[in-house]
Amino acid sequence: MSHAHTPRPLTSHRSGPFAGRLRVPGDKSISHRALMFGALSTGRTRITGLLEAEDVVNTARALTALGAPARKTGDVWEVLGRGVGGLTEPSAPLDFGNSGTGTRLMTGVVAGQPITVTMTGDASLSRRPMGRVLKPLKQMGLQVLDGDNDTLPLTIRGSSELVPITYALPVASAQLKSAILIAALAAAGETTVTGEETRDHTERMLQFFGAKVRTQRHGNQVAITVTGEAELKGGDVVVPGDPSSAAFLAAAALISPGSEIHIDGVLTNPTRIGFYDTLREMGADVTFQNERSEGGEPVADLRVRTSRLKGVRVPPERAPSMIDEYPILAVLAAFAEGETLMEGLAELKVKESDRLAATAAGLVANGVAARVEGDTLIVVGAGPRGVKGGGRVVTHMDHRIAMSFLIMGLASDAPVTIDDATFIATSFKEFRPLMESLGAKFEG
Ligand code: S3P
Repeated sequence: MSHAHTPRPLTSHRSGPFAGRLRVPGDKSISHRALMFGALSTGRTRITGLLEAEDVVNTARALTALGAPARKTGDVWEVLGRGVGGLTEPSAPLDFGNSGTGTRLMTGVVAGQPITVTMTGDASLSRRPMGRVLKPLKQMGLQVLDGDNDTLPLTIRGSSELVPITYALPVASAQLKSAILIAALAAAGETTVTGEETRDHTERMLQFFGAKVRTQRHGNQVAITVTGEAELKGGDVVVPGDPSSAAFLAAAALISPGSEIHIDGVLTNPTRIGFYDTLREMGADVTFQNERSEGGEPVADLRVRTSRLKGVRVPPERAPSMIDEYPILAVLAAFAEGETLMEGLAELKVKESDRLAATAAGLVANGVAARVEGDTLIVVGAGPRGVKGGGRVVTHMDHRIAMSFLIMGLASDAPVTIDDATFIATSFKEFRPLMESLGAKFEG
């Protein structure tokens, strides 16, 4: 996407009932990692079901510019690996568009290569904190040659002689954890990261590619150790459906009377499904059917039926397992009966937008009583009265704010308009056609 673009407003109208059986595109987190670990391996990596959204395409382009070509042949993406330390200096800045995951994980990749790289991104990404990643990587030997040590653009230089570290994560961030674990592959010795448990795709996939990874658990705290001077070997990766994308479809079915939808092949990794656990506590009829394992990750077919939802308290310790689902959960809470309290949401302030503020503002614009108290989001559900809608929502270059409020408009009394649908393509360009195939009405 070009950085200057013309906003494309989009309106959703009350529609449904929603019915059908479909799949959602591949998981974004796993897609980024499959490409990067393929590049750090020897031999070829073949990826089936890779998410072909802008965020991931930017990662594929960046790796190609670093000398590890990633391209699609037939239905499969192939990465030609260069091995840990084998990437080459790109001739131009790497543009990560809107993607925090692409940028932060790639900082870990570059850390272990003796090359200089400039990283850039769009206006949203250029506001997001990178200092959290640079701090531990600088302890390992990464140099920041140009930039303010926190936000893009940044010019960094990696090293072939990284030092292993032990690092306590100051925030529950899988991106930060992963950047350190990826850099650790190139360090001379064992690197350990400790902190609250977050999505574990890096650990699972690095092991699959042949790295030595050890995880120790104490309650919801984990200590993960990676052995350095690793030799990764390329292989075949199957990417399951993204549970964060499926969340929008599931939400539409829950709040539109008479709906039943089936979403096949969705990732059900326990570190990713806090949203579905919360839905069940709210009284939602959501079941995981045909549970199985695909490519080292648990997968199921989801069945979702319209449900009368009730407000709940979502505890802060659940946040890491549903961090991207709070905007859509808040929309569901607006339709529920009673109050929903979502606690421990400080990290939402530094996503593609300040999602805490953007979600509350979108709700209020549509006649829902919502407020932020510290790091807590409180939504007073309309219950049988129904949600008014009729508002215009400012999306702040944030795909998940855009999709959440379009879902709201599918079940509210008056249509909901978002100011810009452009950024939906960063993670889920099939969102509109898939929703339309279930019966949704959009205009714009
Ligand atoms: C991701 C981690 C999360 C999440 C993002 C994807 C990942 O970010 O919000 O969409 O793939 O590691 P944080 O690590 O910043 O919480």
